[in-house]
Amino acid sequence: TPPSFVPALVVGSGYGAAVSALRLGSAGVSTLVLETGQLWNEAGSDGSVFCSMVDPDRRSTWLHTRTQAPLGTFLWLDVVNRDVPRYTGVLDRMDHPNMSVYQGRGVGGGSLVNGGMAVVPEREHLERVLPAVSSDPMYERYFPRARRMLGVNRVSEDWFEGAECYRYARVARRHAANAGLGSTLVPNVYDFDYMRREAAGEVPASALAAEVLYGNNHGKRSLDQTYLADAVGTGNVRIESLHRAHSIRRESDGTFVVGVQRLDEFGNVREVHEIGCRYLFLGAGSQGTTELLLRARETGGLPELSELVGQGWGTNGNVMLGRACNLWDPTGALQSSIPALAVDDPHNEHGPVFAESVPIPAGVETFVSLYLAITRNPERGRFVFDEDTDSVRLRWSSDQGQPSVRAARATFDGINRANGTVYRHDLFGDTRAFEDRFTYHPLGGCVLGSATDDHGRVRGYRNLYVVDGSLIPGSTGVNPFLTITALAERNVERILSVDVEHG
Ligand code: FDA
Repeated sequence: TPPSFVPALVVGSGYGAAVSALRLGSAGVSTLVLETGQLWNEAGSDGSVFCSMVDPDRRSTWLHTRTQAPLGTFLWLDVVNRDVPRYTGVLDRMDHPNMSVYQGRGVGGGSLVNGGMAVVPEREHLERVLPAVSSDPMYERYFPRARRMLGVNRVSEDWFEGAECYRYARVARRHAANAGLGSTLVPNVYDFDYMRREAAGEVPASALAAEVLYGNNHGKRSLDQTYLADAVGTGNVRIESLHRAHSIRRESDGTFVVGVQRLDEFGNVREVHEIGCRYLFLGAGSQGTTELLLRARETGGLPELSELVGQGWGTNGNVMLGRACNLWDPTGALQSSIPALAVDDPHNEHGPVFAESVPIPAGVETFVSLYLAITRNPERGRFVFDEDTDSVRLRWSSDQGQPSVRAARATFDGINRANGTVYRHDLFGDTRAFEDRFTYHPLGGCVLGSATDDHGRVRGYRNLYVVDGSLIPGSTGVNPFLTITALAERNVERILSVDVEHG
């Protein structure tokens, strides 16, 4: 049967994809969005859509039989993770030699699982990593637009200072101050007014019920409630969940034909079909988009793609660590799962460190101060396509994490010295204090200005666009989704005004 046809096809439904879908739909372009993961809108037998971190079930995990929380152990005991039935749950971890890449799966992509921290990057750093992007319009127009659209808000300082659920963040701030370091309250897309009412017992708890990582049942403005709801509201956008784009080829008339696999909720391929489109927007995330392009380049579907596809990948310098606080310095049994504070070390000898204070919402006092440090690690990896497994492999060596560890160590050695505290060595499966073998912030693989032009148009093919975190070469210096969103707003605005025929 000949492929069905849509004018515009968007692959994935994370930040870049959601921006593309809304702007295409608003311009009157009939658009189909394909998302591998589920549409998370139906409650399970427990009355909730998502499960919590303390009692995870099959909804937590994408096609694995054990949950994959990064904080693997406590006192070296494997108490954190649980066996679960294989299911198309919401959090995926893609394991490569020396590096595990986390990604949200479902309509909304990473917005379903992430901590919601919405941070504008430092201007000089953005200019350094994306020299082709002029920063005035970014800071005057696209960052404010992205913040407004995503529903970014701030915690009230008065409430933060007295809230039991942010004791852990205030401890982190005081310990940093004792070492001469500043901290900042970090804006978020979680509704802090809702959280205040959770704390007062007026509404069902979510951030205060250990929900994050496997989804939030309340309070979080994930993309399905913002960009994607507006996109569907234009009447021009349709979203198909449990649909995975697999192959891409181009016909001689310029039509792209995408091979699609329809999955059941256990991840089995139930049907394959093809969809033709005039405009193809790839928003499948750093690994997903790069894999689609590399497969198409290596297996002949899009042979003209640049050799630069696959390159420029980085971890955003992610490294996690825990400090043992003194017994007179509790971090609190009730911890908001939504981070609200970051320690700032701009003058670190190994480059600036921005370390968010991360909760351990275990429901008991742990005396642990946990951090996800974002460092300026200059190391870059690359993806290669492996025909045997029909998937990409990441080339990243274990020593490439060392710049992240060095920078974090310089910051936190100082904090430990000033407070008479030590690192925890029991949290990451062995005795290491610094966990640099995973990233929440995969960036790069199809870098703007190298594998694409200055607006994400993929080199070698007209009407083929990359719109997600693959465009950013490995670092934003802060949490990345606001940058991904603002960059997509910028690029799609240009693409719509220059390339796309409007309906
Ligand atoms: P994103 O990864 O969001 O979406 C890609 C989507 O495409 C997924 O839904 C995937 O299933 C789908 N897909 C992949 N391949 C496909 C295919 N072949 N066909 C169809 N669909 C396909 N950032 C931040 O700024 N602040 C924060 O607080 C956090 N916290 C955080 C916590 C955790 C646990 C994680 C995992 C991540 C974060 N992040 C974060 C990172 C942030 O979520 C991430 O940078 C963005 O979601 C990336 O957006 P993209 O648009 O690149 O794709």
